[in-house]
Amino acid sequence: MSLHRLHIDTFRNIHSAQLLPSSGLNLIYGDNGSGKTSILEAIYFLGMGRSFRSHLSQRVIQNEQEQLTLFAQLQKEEGLLKVGLRRYRNGDIDVKIDGERIKRLSVLAETLPIQVITPESFSLLFEGPKNRRQFIDWGAFHSDPQFYLAWANVRKIMKHRNQMLKTGSAYSQIQFWDKELVNYGALVTEIRMQYVDSLNAQLKGIIGEFLPRVDVKVSFSRGWDSKTELSQLLENQYPRDLASGFTVSGPHKADLRLRVGNLPAQDALSRGQLKLLVCALRIAQGKLLKQQIGKNSIYLVDDLPSELDAQHRQLLLRQLSETGAQVFVTAIEPSAIVDSLQTPPSKVFHVEQGQVTVIE
Ligand SMILES: Nc1ncnc2c1ncn2[C@@H]1O[C@H](COP(=O)(O)OP(=O)(O)O)[C@@H](O)[C@H]1O
Ligand SMILES: [Mg+2]
Repeated sequence: MSLHRLHIDTFRNIHSAQLLPSSGLNLIYGDNGSGKTSILEAIYFLGMGRSFRSHLSQRVIQNEQEQLTLFAQLQKEEGLLKVGLRRYRNGDIDVKIDGERIKRLSVLAETLPIQVITPESFSLLFEGPKNRRQFIDWGAFHSDPQFYLAWANVRKIMKHRNQMLKTGSAYSQIQFWDKELVNYGALVTEIRMQYVDSLNAQLKGIIGEFLPRVDVKVSFSRGWDSKTELSQLLENQYPRDLASGFTVSGPHKADLRLRVGNLPAQDALSRGQLKLLVCALRIAQGKLLKQQIGKNSIYLVDDLPSELDAQHRQLLLRQLSETGAQVFVTAIEPSAIVDSLQTPPSKVFHVEQGQVTVIE
């Protein structure tokens, strides 16, 4: 699966752009502030219905404009698929797939799996569990069709449970909800656990190349201690939950542990090495998806050269191309990418003040 045609309208500083990307490696270059990240952000927005840069989606709408429009033709095995998205300043969003309006953004994510690596998103992975949990859940969502609903139910019940805790409900009242929570929570945890297991198998080889001689361990932490059943935990921790006004532990606290030897990865690795670790995680995730359901992800790598020496740029570009997926990378200087490649990128785009031109 790849983007065959992409139209971007009134998105950040891009007033109107049309791209015909290659299904292989696409290089986007231009000066600071020209609009490189905005192009990647637009692709991500089309796949996720939100930005990777800002929680406030209206910020991506071009100043003075009321809406943004994104349109793509996806090249699928079955043929071309049209995906369109329009986002209005008042928050409304319209999404159409092959002319048919869709209500759930998850359908979009299913259609267009995207892996993004940016200088900001890679540090996020080391800041708190939320982003690492999202990383696991991206894979769990794509690899198991049961995950989406089970996780949505966990979140819904958890919200309700926390409201009850805040108003001081007795455990006998909460217990009813806990039964549901335990059922869905167990399923979510099982899918996540299996997912991280499969991911680890993929990761080994990639980490071996990117970070040889570094003892990286990736493990799953389910969100509460490993000896207690979820039903027991919820009952036992009720007094504590009541005092806190929220549920202290449970599947909503699941995490991906990234360690080097006995240290958290962020304390043991340099920034360049952390970037390589994140790239390894994302590539492993894409490869696993391909293996599990035969779907290729689209890789967006913003400012690929930064933090990496020539050898590691080369390694990363090779690993990306070996996935067989469509890849978009950005750089200020094209040579920073081209010099690390054995064959030239399939397509090169230059961006200047939001204007995109293809370089033949
Ligand atoms: N909503 C917006 N409307 C118009 N321009 C914007 C908007 N949001 C950001 N910009 C501008 O878009 C430009 C491109 O940003 P960006 O894509 O991050 O550039 P690059 O990645 O090439 O350095 C910036 O100069 C920024 O000020
Ligand atoms: Mg940028």
